[in-house]
Amino acid sequence: VQAEIGLIGLGTMGSNLALNIAEKGHTIAVFNRTVSRVDEFKAQAGALADRIIPCHSIEELAAAIRPPRPIILMVVAGKPVDDQIAMLRKVLSPNDIIIDAGNADFNDTRRRFAELEGTGITFIGMGVSGGEEGARHGPSIMVGGTEESWHRVEDVITAISAKYKGEPCAAWLGPDGAGHFVKTIHNGIEYADMQMIAEIYGVLRDGLGMSAKEIAPVFAKWNEGRLNSYLIEITAKVLEIDDPKTGKPIVDVIVDRAGQKGTGKWSAIEAQKLGVPATAIEAAVAARVISSMKTEREAAQKVYGPATGNIKGDKAKLFHDLELALFAGKIAAYAQGFAVMDAASKEFSWNIPLATVSKIWRAGCIIRSQFLGTIAEAFSKGPVTNLLMAPAFIEMMKEAHPSLRRIVAIAAEAGLPVPALSAALAYFDGYRQARGTSNLIQAQRDFFGAHGFERIGEEGAHHGPWGDYS
Ligand code: 6PG
Repeated sequence: VQAEIGLIGLGTMGSNLALNIAEKGHTIAVFNRTVSRVDEFKAQAGALADRIIPCHSIEELAAAIRPPRPIILMVVAGKPVDDQIAMLRKVLSPNDIIIDAGNADFNDTRRRFAELEGTGITFIGMGVSGGEEGARHGPSIMVGGTEESWHRVEDVITAISAKYKGEPCAAWLGPDGAGHFVKTIHNGIEYADMQMIAEIYGVLRDGLGMSAKEIAPVFAKWNEGRLNSYLIEITAKVLEIDDPKTGKPIVDVIVDRAGQKGTGKWSAIEAQKLGVPATAIEAAVAARVISSMKTEREAAQKVYGPATGNIKGDKAKLFHDLELALFAGKIAAYAQGFAVMDAASKEFSWNIPLATVSKIWRAGCIIRSQFLGTIAEAFSKGPVTNLLMAPAFIEMMKEAHPSLRRIVAIAAEAGLPVPALSAALAYFDGYRQARGTSNLIQAQRDFFGAHGFERIGEEGAHHGPWGDYS
């Protein structure tokens, strides 16, 4: 029996993806750098073991797959991907397909496309979201490469993907780096979503003095409304769970230092490069960095004192505002993320179908939510310049932004950091202000550097009457 597909990298994600593929009826050949893992994997595969061919070398892997061979790489992003590609080039033949399913930097993906050009080997950069569970039972899959290469793997990819009301959450999004770019922005949005949830948790914990057990049902209730999403659902669950060792809520024994592997930072960097404001995402990345500065934060609290906390007022109104503030922040963050994808699509001539992106994010991925259904509807109706200007979002934002404003103000008064929510509010206020304050910046630039400025209602570049002042 020859396998239809191969997979390299039997970590958690790779193992689960391989089992998912086997479960959908495909025979899969697997290889892992630590070779002992391949037999262990087959031994643990239970009823699916018959469809798994463990390979102990890259040559064995190539021999086990029926040409033309599709091979999925699920290894750590960066050099390990280049190393595996170099090894595969020695054993693969023209028409074989290497599919990088890791969280790659799309710049690397583009470089790899260029490097493989002319070898006859096809490359696909594929974003996979949904964590361990998703990989095993149905992730959201964002594919970049030639359309022809997509059609060659479409059947197996759609079979293993999540389904939203029967529709597969997998799609071809454009050439070369398009899939990995979209996955990167997915993660950037994920960072913003998670950060804003954490900020609201902070207001509840430190401003209202609520315990984890008291906060859990607040999120659980919000999950039944407009905030309905996987991240809100797991937040409620996480807050409920106790640490078996101490009996305390598990969140209360976890150090407040967040890890990050790069995709959030790349989102912010690419947004900056494209000249698109993605301030809520940037704030979320920066918040993780500040979180990691634990020792400095402890020292600074000694110097400046802790936040006063202690938020007073009508609880019911406050909870309503918190829910809407989170929702308004979410609208702004998604508006930013989609604007970044739109700009990249134009910059790299990818033609990313943003309606499809929102559709394949409705199930399987970490940011899946009811809200993405609303985004999908907005994009299906025609081009969207900015989500803030799509009719359905105008209505929602009009209702929600006053709450965001109140919560940011209350948090600022109480000394509680809400960086992503503040950034979202500032973005909204800047975006809807017809006459801003950059007339002054233009005057300053011209004053010190003769950079010139436009005059209202007049063509061409002008200079100020700075005379002896400058
Ligand atoms: C997913 C996740 C997953 C992971 C990211 C972010 O879509 O399944 O986004 O890919 O969470 O790698 O991880 P960090 O928070 O460690 O950067």
